[in-house]
Amino acid sequence: TWTTGNVIEEQVEAIREQVGTRRAICGLSGGVDSAVAAALVQRAIGSQLTCVYVDHGLMRKGETEQVEKDFVAATGVQLKVVDAEERFLTALQGVSDPEEKRKIIGREFIRVFEQAQAEIVAEAGASGEPVEFLVQGTLYPDVVESGGGTGTANIKSHHNVGGLPEDLEFQLIEPLRKLFKDEVRMVGQELGLPEEIVQRQPFPGPGLGIRIVGEVTKERLDLLREADAIAREELTAAGLDRDIWQCPVVLLADVRSVGVQGDGRTYGHPIVLRPVSSEDAMTADWSRLPYEVLAKISTRITNEVRDVNRVVLDVTSKPPGTIEWE
Ligand code: XMP
Repeated sequence: TWTTGNVIEEQVEAIREQVGTRRAICGLSGGVDSAVAAALVQRAIGSQLTCVYVDHGLMRKGETEQVEKDFVAATGVQLKVVDAEERFLTALQGVSDPEEKRKIIGREFIRVFEQAQAEIVAEAGASGEPVEFLVQGTLYPDVVESGGGTGTANIKSHHNVGGLPEDLEFQLIEPLRKLFKDEVRMVGQELGLPEEIVQRQPFPGPGLGIRIVGEVTKERLDLLREADAIAREELTAAGLDRDIWQCPVVLLADVRSVGVQGDGRTYGHPIVLRPVSSEDAMTADWSRLPYEVLAKISTRITNEVRDVNRVVLDVTSKPPGTIEWE
């Protein structure tokens, strides 16, 4: 029978056997999946694991600081933070196609991990064991929706599955590959991770890069970061965090509409709110949020975020819409 204890025991043993005395790195994204995967691998191989947090510039407000603080405090893991904003933004320049964005982001992640790998080996000196393994928090739905399951269509390339480059030199460790999100949360809890990490709403590895419909630029990211922070703040203030699965906030950068703000005409961009409820992200329904909360978010975003003159609500279930817009 399935218990979190069994899963942990089984994986710890398998990981120890696979890794031996060598080393592994784990990409941390701030989300539940990578945090649980890291904690599990840490339990198996301890200090042979180094976590790498890639700040790709596509993170939400405050996210980097949260990883640096919360996760390290909870696990005592060795953490390497890499500032890779310029690298990612340069690679994404001029790209609007969602799948192309996903592949670029997946590839750049790996390039940064390779660099980190070389640095970790160099720091360990001549006696250092090689870093041969990359830990990823891939879940069962990521595999299925990237076309890795049997008989399924490729819906979108999750950055850690279909978005991986072909010349990957790491061997992968993916201890959550057979699990759904609720099971991952239970495993995380059993491993002693704090509630703030285990109950965190999902956030995709490619970050805000797939929440800007159109080209990704620093200016647009800053704008979306502001709008997203407002939405999150108001949802939390209304006590709705546990009622919704997640609420992507999307910038329609290629769309403009006419508005009137202050005493003049504006020609700005719409922001889309996409609150959903779901059990496992494979299907979802749009959340019936209270009108007052929606009104507050809308007023604040149009008042506080430059260049945004309209807020719209996505009332599409999955299917036919996916949760993220790209
Ligand atoms: P979709 O948009 O496919 O999303 O309905 C399903 C769930 O997966 C998340 N998501 C991702 N997570 N890397 C991730 O780590 C990705 O590339 C990725 N794409 C989507 C999404 O936020 C939702 O929870």
